[in-house]
Amino acid sequence: MAKIEIKLADIAEGKSVTFKWRGKPLFIRHRTPAEIETERGVPTSQLRDPETDDQRVVKPQWLVVIGVCTHLGCVPIANAGDFGGYYCPCHGSHYDASGRIRKGPAPLNLEVPTHEFPDETTLVVG
Ligand code: FES
Repeated sequence: MAKIEIKLADIAEGKSVTFKWRGKPLFIRHRTPAEIETERGVPTSQLRDPETDDQRVVKPQWLVVIGVCTHLGCVPIANAGDFGGYYCPCHGSHYDASGRIRKGPAPLNLEVPTHEFPDETTLVVG
């Protein structure tokens, strides 16, 4: 299946939900205003894989990433780690609430797949 359609009303603010898409975990996170503010304020000079938060999201309240650690492919845990995003327990990689690698061995940010919002309550990934 090439595309997946997700109803956003089911995902409360502050929650990260996992779907399966093209055989991989897909993380959809409904970010809080505080998370958005924090991630927008991170200087790219602090980042191993420099991307601004704006480059990674289509709508600020929705983070959409592939749930595969860029180190060796484990599935990170949501709402864990030192940076309020995701934590990969295999070798200790910490990602922030923009899915960017902040600490640990992973070289790259979590991948953002192509996605769009055809209306206020629907997300289409793929
Ligand atoms: Fe995630 Fe190694 S696979 S830290």
